[in-house]
Amino acid sequence: MEKRSQWGTRLGFLLAAMGSAIGLGNIWRFPATAYSNGGGAFFIPYLFALLTAGIPLLIMEYTIGHKYRSSAPRAFKKFNKKAEWIGWWQVGISFVINTYYPIIVAWALMFTYFSFTEAWGADPEAFFLNDFLSISGPGEFGSFVPNVVIPLLLIWAVVFAILYRGVKKGIEVANKIFIPLLMVSFFLIVIRAITLPGAAEGLNTFFEPNWDTIFDGSVWIAAYGQIFYSLSIAFAIMITFSSYLPKDSDITNNAFITGFANSSFELLAGIGVFSALGFMAAQQGQPVSEVVEGGIGLAFMVFPRIISQMPASSFFGVLFFGSLVLAGLSSMVSISETYIAALQEKFSIKRHTAVSVGVGLSALVSFAYANQGGLFLLDTVDYFINNYGVALVGLVEVVVVVWFLRQLKPLKDHANNVSDIKIGAWWSFSLSVITPIVLGFMMIQNFRTDFAENYEGYPTTFLLTYGWAVALAVIIIGLLFTIKKWPKEDV
Ligand code: ALA
Repeated sequence: MEKRSQWGTRLGFLLAAMGSAIGLGNIWRFPATAYSNGGGAFFIPYLFALLTAGIPLLIMEYTIGHKYRSSAPRAFKKFNKKAEWIGWWQVGISFVINTYYPIIVAWALMFTYFSFTEAWGADPEAFFLNDFLSISGPGEFGSFVPNVVIPLLLIWAVVFAILYRGVKKGIEVANKIFIPLLMVSFFLIVIRAITLPGAAEGLNTFFEPNWDTIFDGSVWIAAYGQIFYSLSIAFAIMITFSSYLPKDSDITNNAFITGFANSSFELLAGIGVFSALGFMAAQQGQPVSEVVEGGIGLAFMVFPRIISQMPASSFFGVLFFGSLVLAGLSSMVSISETYIAALQEKFSIKRHTAVSVGVGLSALVSFAYANQGGLFLLDTVDYFINNYGVALVGLVEVVVVVWFLRQLKPLKDHANNVSDIKIGAWWSFSLSVITPIVLGFMMIQNFRTDFAENYEGYPTTFLLTYGWAVALAVIIIGLLFTIKKWPKEDV
C-alpha cells in the first residue's frame, strides 16, 4: 500500500477543512433558510444546533479519523466489523451529492462569465430558466444543455487536477489559494452591499426576530439540517481529512476553529445577501419580504437583477459568482476525497487510479443533470439525500458509536490526550442525549411531511425514482461494498 498522505502544516489542514465546510450551503442556502425560519429568532436554534450537534460531532469525526488514520469505511470497520457499512453509506451520500453539486458550480462559472456583459438582460428569471437552462418539466429530461455541459467539464478537470496532485500538493495548495481569495472577494461584496441605499432595511428584515417560530419543530429541523450540511458532517469528509493529520495534532481546538469560521462566514453571507435584497427592494419600492427568495432562485435569478442595479456591476458580478465557484470547488474536492480514500484502501489501488475511477464515475453521473430537466432532478436528489441521507446517517452514526459500540469514553480520552481544550460533560451529554433525541424527532417529522404530501408537488413516480430510491440505493450499495474482503495487510 502507498504511504498514507499527510497535511504539510496545521494551517493547511484547517484551510482544507474550512474549504470543505464553506461552500454553496453558506452562500446559497443559509440566508434564505434563516430568513424563512424566523429571521433573528433562527439564531437560537441555529446556535443550539451548532453547540450541541455541529461542534460535538465535528470533534467526534476528527477524533475517529485521527485515531484510526483511515477513510470512513475502514475507520468504522476498526470500531467493529459490523459498523463498516456506516462508512460506506456516508461515502455513498458524498458520491450522490457530488453528482449535482458540480452542476451549481458550473452554473456559477457561466454566470461569472455572463457578469462581464450582464448577459441576463432585463429579465434574469426568464434568462436563467429559458435562455440558459432551456427548462422543461420534472421527469422530462429533453436534450443536453451545452451551457451546462461545457462549464461542467471544466469544473471536473480542475477538481481532477487538484486531487491527482495529492493531499499536500493538491488539496492543501489549492485551499491555500482558494480560501484567502474567497475571503477577500466576499469581504469586498459584503462591504459594498452594506453601504448600498436600503441595506439597513434588508438587515432589519433579516435580524428581526419572529419569536413564535422557536416553538415550531420545523424550525429546529431546519437549523440542524443547515448545520450538518454546512459543516460537512456525516459526509465522511471530516473523518477522511483528519486521517491525514500528523499523530500529535490538536483536535478540539481545530474543531472549534472550523465550526466558528464556518458560522462566521455564513453570518457574513446572510448580512451581505440581505443588505443587497434591501437595496433591490428600495430600488423597486417594495418591502424586502416581497423580494426574498431562497436557494437557486436567490443566486441565479435575484442576484443578477441586484448586480445590474449596482454601481460597478460587472466587477461585483464577477466577485459574487466567482466566490460561489471558489467555495463550491473546495467543497467538491473534499467530497470527492471521501470515496477516493475509501476506494484506495479497500481495493488496495494507487491514489492516481482511485482518483481517476472516483472522479471519472461521479463526473459521468453528473451529466445526468446537464439536460433540460436537470434542475428538477437536482432539487429532488438534494432534498432527499439531505433529509434521508445526511441527517439519517448522522443519527445512526451517533447512536451506533455512542450507544452500541460504547466508544464515547475512548474517543474522549483520545481527543483529550492530544488537545489543548479538554472535553467533558458537555460533549458527552450532547452526543449521547441531545443529538439523538433531536435528530430522531427530526426524522419522524420528515417522514410525516413527505408521506403526507409530495415534495414541491412533483409527480409521485418522479419522487419515488429519484428521491426515495436514490436514498435507499445508497444504503444497499454501501452494504454490498462490505462484502468484499479488505486487503491482507488490513485484516
Ligand atoms: N459544507 C458544504 C457546503 O456548505 C457541503 O456547501
